[in-house]
Amino acid sequence: MKYSPSQLVEKTKAFVQDRLKNAEGGHDWFHIQRVYNNAMQIASQENGHDVLVVQMAALLHDIADSKFHDGNEEIGPRIALEFMASVGLAQATSQHVVKIIENISFKGGHGEGTFDSLELQIVRDADRLDAMGAIGIARTFNFGGFKNNAIYDPAIPPNPGMDKETYKKANQPTLNHFHEKLLLLKDLMHTTTGRQLAEARHEFMVQYLAQFHAEWNGKR
Ligand code: ADP
Ligand code: NI
Repeated sequence: MKYSPSQLVEKTKAFVQDRLKNAEGGHDWFHIQRVYNNAMQIASQENGHDVLVVQMAALLHDIADSKFHDGNEEIGPRIALEFMASVGLAQATSQHVVKIIENISFKGGHGEGTFDSLELQIVRDADRLDAMGAIGIARTFNFGGFKNNAIYDPAIPPNPGMDKETYKKANQPTLNHFHEKLLLLKDLMHTTTGRQLAEARHEFMVQYLAQFHAEWNGKR
C-alpha cells in the first residue's frame, strides 16, 4: 500500500471535497462530512467491522449520485474505483467499498439488493440519519427548489409504494417526500445506535409536519 490508512482518508477527503465543489446543497461536501461523522459515531458502538471500509464508503458514497447524472448508476462506482486504484487501496477493500456505494441508496425502498455487510449497514444508517430531522427537512426543501417542485399541493396525495423508476423521476410536491421516504426511515435502520438517533429526528419531523399543516389551514 502506498499510504497509511490515515493518509488515505485525508487524500480521499481532499478528492471528494474538490469533486463536490459545485454540488447541490443537500449532496455537497458538508453532507459527506456529516455522514462520515455519523458513521464514525455508529461504528464506535459496533464490533467486527473494517473501519477503513466504513470511512472510504462514507466519503465516496455520493461522488456521482445518479440523480445528478441522468439516472446513470454506473458512473459513481466507476469514479470511486478509479480513485481507489490511484491511491493504491487493497483490491478487497475497494471492491467492498464499491458494493456499498452500489447498494446504499433508498430509491423508494428498492435500493436494498442482495449484498449485505455490517459496513454497509453502518454507512447506510449514517446516510439515512442525514435525511431526517432538521437537516433532513432543509435538504429536502433545497432539493425540491433545485427541481422547481411545488412545496405542497393538497390535491396531489403522496405515493409511498412507488416503483424505483417512478421514484427516481418523481417531481411531486416536496411535502410528499416526507411520506414517500423520510417518515419511513426510522423503521429501516439497521444498527442500535442508528435506531436510537433516528427516533429523535423522526419525532422532530412529525412535529414539523403538524405545525406545517396547522399553519396551512390558518390554525396557528
Ligand atoms: P438516496 O440518495 O439515499 O438514494 P434519495 O435519492 O431519496 O436517497 O435522496 C437523498 C435526499 O435528497 C433525500 O433525503 C431528500 O432530502 C432529497 N430528495 C430526494 N428526492 C427528493 C424529492 N423527490 N423531493 C425532495 N427531496 C428529495
Ligand atoms: Ni448521501
